[in-house]
Amino acid sequence: MEKLVIDGGKRLEGSLRVSGAKNAALPILAASLLTAERVALGNAPRLNDIGTMLKLLRGLGADAVDDGNSGIEITAANLSELRAPYDLVKTMRASFLVLGPLLARFGGGEVSLPGGCAIGARPVDQHLKGFAAMGAEIGMRDGYVRASAPGGLRGAEVEMDTVTVGGTENLMMAATLAEGKTVLRRAAREPEIVDLGNFLNAMGARVSGHGTSTVVIDGVEQLGGTGYAIMPDRVEAGTYLIAVAATRGRVRLTGVDPRTLGAVLERLMVAGADIRTGKGWVELDMRARPRAVDIETAPYPGFPTDMQAQFLAMNAIAEGDCRVTENIFENRFMHVQEINRLGARIELRGRSTALVHGVERLRAAPVMATDLRASFSLVVAGLVAEGRTTIDRIYHIDRGYEAIEDKLSALGADVRRI
Ligand code: EPZ
Repeated sequence: MEKLVIDGGKRLEGSLRVSGAKNAALPILAASLLTAERVALGNAPRLNDIGTMLKLLRGLGADAVDDGNSGIEITAANLSELRAPYDLVKTMRASFLVLGPLLARFGGGEVSLPGGCAIGARPVDQHLKGFAAMGAEIGMRDGYVRASAPGGLRGAEVEMDTVTVGGTENLMMAATLAEGKTVLRRAAREPEIVDLGNFLNAMGARVSGHGTSTVVIDGVEQLGGTGYAIMPDRVEAGTYLIAVAATRGRVRLTGVDPRTLGAVLERLMVAGADIRTGKGWVELDMRARPRAVDIETAPYPGFPTDMQAQFLAMNAIAEGDCRVTENIFENRFMHVQEINRLGARIELRGRSTALVHGVERLRAAPVMATDLRASFSLVVAGLVAEGRTTIDRIYHIDRGYEAIEDKLSALGADVRRI
């Protein structure tokens, strides 16, 4: 199994181009099932999760060509299968996003029930509630969810009980080909949802209000092929900003949209970072030891759960004490024990709060990655620790961070994969 070896203690400095957003690319790839015509995507990140989604689309019978760089072409003219199997869904929950498109275009589909995952239970009840409101029959058998609407979906008013990114996306996709108008209330407002809405409109859909808590979709007869460039990855961008700040470094990120990073930039400034932004770039300069900063995760535009672990790692070496509150997932503090192995002083209070007592320095130790973002928090800790940190199970990192050793090395870090 591959490991990452980091010789810590170096200031990171330089410039970096941010990749396309994993969490925008995944729903957009699923949405390409909504048309028989060719969809050509640009700025797609090269990640294991993208590979998993392409495998799923090919398994359904779509033609998916990856140009080996950042271009992907999908043609889903005819499908041979309407079923997403357990072995793919269990490795990546975003596989569930094919159900909306299958239901909308083919009148039915079956997707393995995702079940639990490392960061919590993560049910899909809100996706199913919306499909049912649009007239689909929902059944469960042998661990699979089966949805069918042979006569087509009907537009509906759906008020979600909780803010869900994937639920909003699945229902938006399903509604594009439904008869009449769908109104999604308490919709998630994440920038990736805006990107999906823009992509659907480029295919000929009539989506409005995406990016607000009420999304309106007027169903159309059919959708067509299109070309589309995926938005920059705000989580990758924020992660590198945090890593650089933790090492008291300096960086210029390009290919990024600073407007999507509001809460993270604000917290970094409170921690003492000097930040400048312009169209397509962000610069960060951190001269002193970071100050401890409370963070509390919330749906967008709040502080993202996907950057909680990395920020917590920076807080571990910050000056002062602070509180980190996780409100989105019930089990997203598994990195705490690992960071403490490096000499951090972090106490867990229940399942949603971590009290961080900043220490002056961390000391290297072997640690183990537990989920995607948690693994990068160990990288942050390893970068600031004195000595050699080895991170095991880094396949988690490869799900969501493109070319991590190359990008960190370009900033002067001493990192290699063994
Ligand atoms: C998306 O997951 C992201 N994944 C996650 O990123 C991210 O952490 C999450 O949104 C929150 O921002 C992708 O975009 C592919 P949710 P998703 O539905 O859509 C509960 C990463 O590291 N819920 O918004 O699965 C759920 O249990 C990943 O890149 C229900 O109760 O998240 C959770 O507590 C990890 N019922 C909360 O809502 C439902 O039907 C938010 O989940 C659906 C969700």
